[in-house]
Amino acid sequence: MNNISVIGSGTMGNGIAHTFAQFGYQVNLIDINDQALEKARQTIAKNLDRQVSKGSISEGEKTTTLNNIKTFTDLQAGVAHADLVVEAATESLDLKLKIFKDMDAFAPAHAILASNTSSISITHIASGTSRAAQIIGMHFMNPVPVMKLVEVIRGYGTSDETTAKIMELSKKLGKVPVEVNDYPGFVANRILMPMINEAIFTLFEGVAGVQEIDTVMKLGMAHPMGPLQLADFIGLDVCLAILNVLHDGFGNPKYAPCPLLVNMVRAGKLGIKSAEGFYDYAKGPKEGTVSAKFLN
Ligand code: CAA
Repeated sequence: MNNISVIGSGTMGNGIAHTFAQFGYQVNLIDINDQALEKARQTIAKNLDRQVSKGSISEGEKTTTLNNIKTFTDLQAGVAHADLVVEAATESLDLKLKIFKDMDAFAPAHAILASNTSSISITHIASGTSRAAQIIGMHFMNPVPVMKLVEVIRGYGTSDETTAKIMELSKKLGKVPVEVNDYPGFVANRILMPMINEAIFTLFEGVAGVQEIDTVMKLGMAHPMGPLQLADFIGLDVCLAILNVLHDGFGNPKYAPCPLLVNMVRAGKLGIKSAEGFYDYAKGPKEGTVSAKFLN
């Protein structure tokens, strides 16, 4: 596998393109407009600069990485020579079904089609294609160039050969792949999202404040970020969507999203991307202070 196409140039898509390109793969990054692609290129360059300044890559490796990435607004042209396509578009089942139908029509017959979905069923995505054996989940974690895990999700029809190829490829990216089966939330979000939801309930019920909850988990459990800060980082709309998938998929009330989370999403308070969630990011994503709403 040498030619990798990545669909979607948002946070996850540009991180995935960055990582493949850094490890010498030829990457076609595809999005619907040139502005999104230009923004992604700038983000990748900025993140490569951090790696150069930390001494983890050289200036030459930065240039090679950027040269390994071509950008496309036409999906058909972008996937025409792909050995692997990784879809990292918005988390919408209808959108993913449409993209996989197009990829199935335009990518070479041997190509593996992967989704970076955090919770949508791989089996459902595969059902709209003619190559279920070559459909798989490749769930990277944010920030992609830094986080070691790739959750590799086998759909009902995913073949052993496809799984073995994706496990091997993930290792070539310096990642640690873990194979899991296709049930709601897979493993990562089945465990992470109930913890985040419980942290929100703890705030909602007035047990403790934002900073207190995050400090308990950071200093008590050695988590790099507290659960409320992590929810802001992931996006509160994404957290809500994943909890709904767990709730619908298992039919168990223990996954019901906290009403405070529902309200915040309705109010457009989505975390870092909207500059306010549990924290206020008016001074930039790294300078979050507890949102005035949650101060006693
Ligand atoms: N690209 C490249 N390098 C980056 C980067 C990026 N986007 N972001 C951070 N880095 C590097 C930094 O250069 C730094 O490198 P060194 O270790 O060589 O010094 C390192 O990562 C740490 O960064 P910082 O010093 O800036 O900040 P930090 O120590 O606070 O770490 C963090 C930042 C890595 C994000 C850390 O806070 C963390 O691990 N947070 C939790 C992340 C997490 O849980 N991610 C999973 C979210 S869930 C998900 O993605 C999936 C889902 O389905 C919801």
